[in-house]
Amino acid sequence: MISISGLTKYMGGEPLYKGASFQIYEGEKIGLIGPNGTGKTTIFRMIVGEMSPDEGSITIQNNTRIAYFSQSVGEMSGRSALQEVMDSNERVSELASRLSSWEEQLCDPDLDPDRMETILNRMGDDQTEFEKLGGYEVESNAQTILTGLGIAPEDHGKSVELFSGGWKMRIALARVLILMPDLILMDEPTNYLDMETILWLEEWLRKFKGAILLTTHDREFMNRVIRKVVEISNGKIRTFTGDYDFYEQEKAILLRNNSAEFSRQQSMLKKEEEFIARFKARASHAAQVQSRIKKIDKIDRVELESEQAEMKIYLPEIPRGGNDVIAIKGLAKSWENPDGTVKSVFAGLDAMVHRRDKIAVVGVNGAGKSTFLKVISNQTEATRGEAVIGASISVGYFGQITIENLNPENTVLNEVRGKLPEATEAGVRNVLASFLFRGEDVNKKIRVLSGGEKARVVLTCLLSVPYNCLILDEPTNHLDLKSRDVLLDALTRYEGTVLFVSHDRYFLRELTTRVFEVDHGKINVYEGDYDYYLESRNSRGN
Ligand SMILES: Nc1ncnc2c1ncn2[C@@H]1O[C@H](COP(=O)(O)OP(=O)(O)OP(=O)(O)O)[C@@H](O)[C@H]1O
Ligand SMILES: [Mg+2]
Repeated sequence: MISISGLTKYMGGEPLYKGASFQIYEGEKIGLIGPNGTGKTTIFRMIVGEMSPDEGSITIQNNTRIAYFSQSVGEMSGRSALQEVMDSNERVSELASRLSSWEEQLCDPDLDPDRMETILNRMGDDQTEFEKLGGYEVESNAQTILTGLGIAPEDHGKSVELFSGGWKMRIALARVLILMPDLILMDEPTNYLDMETILWLEEWLRKFKGAILLTTHDREFMNRVIRKVVEISNGKIRTFTGDYDFYEQEKAILLRNNSAEFSRQQSMLKKEEEFIARFKARASHAAQVQSRIKKIDKIDRVELESEQAEMKIYLPEIPRGGNDVIAIKGLAKSWENPDGTVKSVFAGLDAMVHRRDKIAVVGVNGAGKSTFLKVISNQTEATRGEAVIGASISVGYFGQITIENLNPENTVLNEVRGKLPEATEAGVRNVLASFLFRGEDVNKKIRVLSGGEKARVVLTCLLSVPYNCLILDEPTNHLDLKSRDVLLDALTRYEGTVLFVSHDRYFLRELTTRVFEVDHGKINVYEGDYDYYLESRNSRGN
């Protein structure tokens, strides 16, 4: 369906890939993987024509219908959520409005019979096409998809502008799914979805008959959905026919073979060079020396594949702080909708956060996990009650908003320098280097950074300050797998207290020591790890 060949693309003077090729065949489910900033989003943008390759070609078979879910939702306004999704297929909406206009004209009692015949004919054609495009099912499909993506039926009629950014993202995702195209391009679709919705999306994508090219940094999601991996690494693009686990095994073998081959060749070259050095002055060996020089010139050199650089997190020494970190008393929060109605998120919450707890805040869609974290970290005011922060506790907060609040016109260096006023320039450069902003990278403007790079800027600022309590809302969003592992390791070592929301199953299992479940406006506390929570929940029959 799509053939990419000899693709080269430069960004800021550096090549992302050189002479890369891969194919997308009908119905294939492919994971496009690679560390942050390797150019995955750039590939999507080239396929849909938002950018063009510097060399090589992207050939798309005629009549291939492509839908693209990107990380930036366009403006939405003036329609209900349901209508927004139904209107996604422009041709279907056009046919729908034509059909109703034909019907109206047919109702005219004075209609001339010739005209009536024309109308009936054209109406018939429109009806056939409408039916072929699934026009009659559009409404019920849109309802199913919206509900699956966590938007309750009673909210389908709500105007799109009343939805927050994260929820608009779901509507945008629904707009893509309803098209049933030949190929869906999806750039990190699971960011900002909660677990239930992720599971629903997994199922939907598995059943989908068309082709999918998706990026995600979620291992389990990939294993469930994809059957082929296209990997960007060291400026090369390689294809592996299997799921993510298969790719990891193959990749490990590939790296081992490459390193063995590299050392074999190096020692062979060394021997040849020694021979040449020893005999080059002797006329008696001139012919042999010449032929050996020719031989080593001809050899294809094995390049050593470098492993992906890993970010390093050096946690600062933190003040110990008291045992009662946050005392939550009768806490309530309600939002006022733009239309004046009030929505209560939770009320009467009571709980205690102890020193060194690593608390996973869980709960279904819209239960209010993010709101809860915002209230206790003072990002937004409580409606009633309070969250008392213990003496000598300092709280650092990470959330989608912290990424959005980066100044796009700042350079990476200036942004971080502004957030760490006490650090020296050399100190800031050092910490940036450990977060993989090296050399010229620190002079990049925030606005050109990839999603993962922006998340790294925020983490650089957050984890360099000696906060003894961290409140983290989806800290792994955008981060590549290695960076997730590094963050997980740092948080496990961290001597302070952590409250977090995450939909990364691995992260939840490894880090959690207690669980706060936000449920029907209340908190249920589980005194155990994530598996304990899942078991208790199951045995309660949920
Ligand atoms: N105008 C620009 N000048 C310099 N570098 C740029 C520019 N635009 C993009 N880049 C760089 O190109 C690289 C590729 O970006 P891209 O968004 O394709 O990465 P990605 O693989 O999608 O990463 P992520 O996993 O974080 O989403 C990044 O390092 C980014 O900083
Ligand atoms: Mg990207």
